[in-house]
Amino acid sequence: MAGARIVLGVSGGIAAYKAVLLLRLLREAGHAVRVVPTVSALEFVGRATWEALSGEPVHTSVFEGTLDVEHVSLGRSADLVVVAPATADLLARAAGGRADDLLTATLLTATCPVLMAPAMHTEMWLHPATVANVALLRSRGVHVLDPESGRLTGADSGPGRLPEPDTLAAAALALLAGPVADPRTVLDLAGRTVVVTAGGTREPVDPVRFLGNRSSGRQGIAIARAAAARGAHVRLIVGEISVATPDGVVVERVGTALEMRDAVRRAALGAEVVVMAAAVADFRPVHAPEAKIKKAPGQPPEPIVLVENPDILAELVADPPDPQTLVVGFAAETGDSEGTVLDHGRAKARRKGANLLAVNAVGEGRGFGDVANEVTVLDAAGCVVTSIRGTKDQVAHGLLDVVAARLTARSADASDPVSEPRTTILR
Ligand code: C5P
Repeated sequence: MAGARIVLGVSGGIAAYKAVLLLRLLREAGHAVRVVPTVSALEFVGRATWEALSGEPVHTSVFEGTLDVEHVSLGRSADLVVVAPATADLLARAAGGRADDLLTATLLTATCPVLMAPAMHTEMWLHPATVANVALLRSRGVHVLDPESGRLTGADSGPGRLPEPDTLAAAALALLAGPVADPRTVLDLAGRTVVVTAGGTREPVDPVRFLGNRSSGRQGIAIARAAAARGAHVRLIVGEISVATPDGVVVERVGTALEMRDAVRRAALGAEVVVMAAAVADFRPVHAPEAKIKKAPGQPPEPIVLVENPDILAELVADPPDPQTLVVGFAAETGDSEGTVLDHGRAKARRKGANLLAVNAVGEGRGFGDVANEVTVLDAAGCVVTSIRGTKDQVAHGLLDVVAARLTARSADASDPVSEPRTTILR
């Protein structure tokens, strides 16, 4: 939704400085932003900054902008209201239905989605009064983000920190993109970069022929769509696909396995997650002549000699562009006399070493194309993490539930909570 009208409410906390960058990000995304600070917010960032960066007047009181009846018109005309930071006092006034300044009056008249990002000292956040106010606001449909844990104003540290501006912007833009009706589309990947590969590669035999495969790209595309709905910045690297790519993701098209390898390695740098759902050709013709191979009557064709393609997934594990990246692979398996689908999956999980491997049975109408899917998610040791059954969208969300939980666990384990981003849950 380009060109939306956003009201950015700012209440009086030190984290107000981060709202300046949030304002810029929302403006750069093509939206009109009307900033409504509280009087105490102006103690931290002045009116001139908000006016210059938003290009709109800045009022705090219901007695300003009276010709336009702003205490009613701002809320009514908004497509989204974001309050960042939301102090304990602002949460209390909003929960109590007060209308004692322009921001709280706007919150009472807004019929659009409302996103609040609390920031305060840990004691205030954990106080039963704040806990009750947040629960009340959430019960009324307000999307209240959990604050991050980390360094606060002074030397203290703990839950209460405002998420970074790009995380807040991702959460705001995801809400603008559509209703968060599906409870699974919690914004638990907000601010994360997720790379997804999808579709099949094509290995040229000559200028008009290629070796390909039956991948439709549906599962990878469902993962990209689901990750974007959960707030991630998604880079989708696609080979040959038979469905449309989703809105709101950056798409890069590739042809061969070697092109896909280059694209994945470039995109993986700085990405928290790489999901390799593409069907990458294991082999390519050693030589693809520049001219079309001609048919000679009565003569058998020259055999096509194949050479092995690099295993992109195994390379990512062995030589990661970013050691922090969580790598997820897919394995389409069939059972045979050597073992079941799961036996082959376990062996592959150990061989490839990806953090997670989603194993699915293929063949006999399963796995390919527009059919329901069933995957068993294994860890690098081949142990079963979970099984997911359903449509490709449901499988995508189930897999991302595991991914999001792993990212959260990593953040919680990190020795330096200040620099480590934490998962932000939108409820
Ligand atoms: O070994 P197999 O092809 O079954 O492994 C499948 C997984 O490995 C998928 O995640 C696929 O994207 C990835 N893969 C790869 N490079 C290859 C072959 C497969 O990254 N050359």
